[in-house]
Amino acid sequence: MSRLALLQGVTRAANEADTLQEALQAAMRLVCDSIPFHWAHTWLTQARNDASLILFDFWYPGRDPSRTLFRIASHRLRPIAADSLPGRVLQSGRPIWSSEIEELLPHRCTEARAAGIRTVAAFPATVGREVVAVLEFFSTESLAAAPGITELLLDLGRQLGELVERKRLQREYADAMQRKQQEFAQQLHDDLCQDLTGLSLLGKSLAEQLREKNLGDWKDAEALATGLQRALEKTRDIAHGVLPVEFDEPQGLGHALRRLAWTTTSTRGVQCRFTQRGTPRLKNALVATQIFRIAQEAVNNAVLHAQATRVEVEMAARDGIVSLEIRDDGKGIREADLRKERAGVRIMRYRTGLLGGTFSIGPRKPAGTSVLCEIGSKSEGTT
Ligand SMILES: Nc1ncnc2c1ncn2[C@@H]1O[C@H](COP(=O)(O)OP(=O)(O)OP(=O)(O)O)[C@@H](O)[C@H]1O
Ligand SMILES: [Mg+2]
Repeated sequence: MSRLALLQGVTRAANEADTLQEALQAAMRLVCDSIPFHWAHTWLTQARNDASLILFDFWYPGRDPSRTLFRIASHRLRPIAADSLPGRVLQSGRPIWSSEIEELLPHRCTEARAAGIRTVAAFPATVGREVVAVLEFFSTESLAAAPGITELLLDLGRQLGELVERKRLQREYADAMQRKQQEFAQQLHDDLCQDLTGLSLLGKSLAEQLREKNLGDWKDAEALATGLQRALEKTRDIAHGVLPVEFDEPQGLGHALRRLAWTTTSTRGVQCRFTQRGTPRLKNALVATQIFRIAQEAVNNAVLHAQATRVEVEMAARDGIVSLEIRDDGKGIREADLRKERAGVRIMRYRTGLLGGTFSIGPRKPAGTSVLCEIGSKSEGTT
């Protein structure tokens, strides 16, 4: 692959990907295929102006146990030492290409030798002068650096840096929008609902007094009180719709999902059941709301498109991983819908991506569809 084709390939992947992971996966694969390396890591800084790196994602074709052990050793590099390969690139902002394995991988040397690494390369993903990620590549062959490779890696790094920055901004924007909505829902709930409750009680007692004294149009006063009660219920429903998960309580997501299953069963003609194992430790109500929205869309799809009789919503929390699965026993999703995803499915995937998780949708045996999202230990949603 030519230099231009590689850069174009990475740009295309970055534009088409819904999540940062997808884009980085494509970039690592393209670089591995074209330079050629065997496997790769991406280290990501935690946030803008927070230069502590974490091993965020990796590209490992095949299942070589010695490479897996090398990856585990890489995960253990926390905090990142200044003399480690990602630490050096972070400090200098310059690419490195070398066969000096012992010198460049001092903390992972035994595992690197066992995995047969003979050449390593690493380059920074940059926004201006700031390094926002470091990509590492490994080969079991002796590879000489081709002329112009440093410039190519710097160009790739600039492209990927922009991508990281764009995804971060998108997430910040989505978080800010949701925070606004949350404030709005809270105001509706705390202010308007309280006023309406007071007015409705006042209306009821007024109607009561007028009726007792048989005075004038007491029925009008009663209609007024009933109307106020209805307005109160509608406002509560709106607040619940905007923020279905109770603010920051650990059981909030479970309660909201149970309510979703119950409402679905009682109003939409399918048996919907919710089960939960373990209590997820989520970062905040925004994360819980994202997960709830995924469940809501998947249940809605099962009701609308699957002709299902049963829908199971299952949430499990174990070892810092939260998984949510929505299964139906309907006619199954068509291959064409999986190949070309529409808004509902794309948004579920996008929401999972915002939480740093993985999303899948597909047919299940003997019949029906399964939607699975897992928010794992490298996630931005769990604590
Ligand atoms: N559980 C399911 N069983 C069968 N088909 C499904 C299921 N979920 C989705 N589909 C198919 O996938 C298509 C895309 O779903 P998606 O949610 O993205 O869009 P939609 O529901 O048609 O519209 P919206 O964007 O408003 O949600 C659906 O039109 C339907 O054909
Ligand atoms: Mg839909």
